[in-house]
Amino acid sequence: VTGPHRHGGDLAGLARTLELPADCHDFSVNTHPFGPHPGAAAAARKALDHMERYPDPAAESLRAAIAAAHGLPEACIVPGNGAAELIDLLPRALGVTRALVVTPAFGEYRDAVARAGGAVIPVARERIDSFPTGAVVAAIARHRPQAVFVCSPNNPTGERLADADFQAVHAACGESTLLVLDEAFVEYSGGSRMDEVTKLPNLVVLRSLTKFFGLAGLRVGYLAAAPPVAGRVAALRPPWTVNGPAAAAGMACLADPDYVDAQRQRVVALRQPFADALSALGLAPLPSDANFLLCRLPEGVSADHLFPALARDGFVVRHCGSFGLGDRYIRLRVHRPEVNAAFIKTLARHLPCS
Ligand SMILES: Cc1ncc(COP(=O)(O)O)c(C=O)c1O
Repeated sequence: VTGPHRHGGDLAGLARTLELPADCHDFSVNTHPFGPHPGAAAAARKALDHMERYPDPAAESLRAAIAAAHGLPEACIVPGNGAAELIDLLPRALGVTRALVVTPAFGEYRDAVARAGGAVIPVARERIDSFPTGAVVAAIARHRPQAVFVCSPNNPTGERLADADFQAVHAACGESTLLVLDEAFVEYSGGSRMDEVTKLPNLVVLRSLTKFFGLAGLRVGYLAAAPPVAGRVAALRPPWTVNGPAAAAGMACLADPDYVDAQRQRVVALRQPFADALSALGLAPLPSDANFLLCRLPEGVSADHLFPALARDGFVVRHCGSFGLGDRYIRLRVHRPEVNAAFIKTLARHLPCS
């Protein structure tokens, strides 16, 4: 892993090596800029009054709520301590030691397969802004992996996977390769494929409540798949990994479907003006269907230099070295309007020509 970041949002880790001001603004993490879902926060606080109680070992009530929210059988759902727990369990539960990953990608796919004793086969994008469907289809035929990991909208590039690309990759997977579709940011893009798990026996969909609903510190995610696949993951999951306040908060989020549209609109309205302001400074943000922007830096500006300079001024960005993007890119979440404006002002001071 190169660059100062292995994951976004690790301000405590960064503070061990960098001098960060106390009132730092974090652009490195892709959580919701307006904080947690208010009902979720209230439900978690209430559940804390009963912290002496064990939670449901398999988070059954949360599982039932997830299944009901998506109109799926409960046997298709496995709740987890964030999507990260489920990514970790997947390779061991399903015997995945050879998996295809389209890079740049979220690093936990590679690390989870490695922890299961295997290795990923990276398929690099030829162009950073387009999904390499032909290369993925050819690599599936050549390597016959047990799984292919795909993320939509993709972290860190931000674009949604087109229907035709999903279908081509799914067809290439056939019956023997699992297609793991990570939808951690799907609330921003729409187009979830959760409801297809009852028809497609090799499809596994991952969801997270940590980003859009702001439960990163509580940790709630889930997986949807056909019952035989979901059952194998559930069987490997230790008891009680979703704690009581987290389950209560998760259920409050799922009970509020109107929240998704309203908050998506709120963030999407901020994305283009932020991208325009970055472009005006010479950065090249990729078109995004998510709440973050992958930005190519202007010639002569390196993330190795920019990252600590911005951090000292109280703005933490995502250095993209750990994504294999060297020092040419930074990733920025879309923040609240006044924080975006303050960031743009500070960034301008650190660029050579502005
Ligand atoms: C693409 C992607 N998938 C999954 C996760 C993990 O999410 P969670 O917080 O639910 O474990 C992340 C977190 O950064 C992510 O970016």
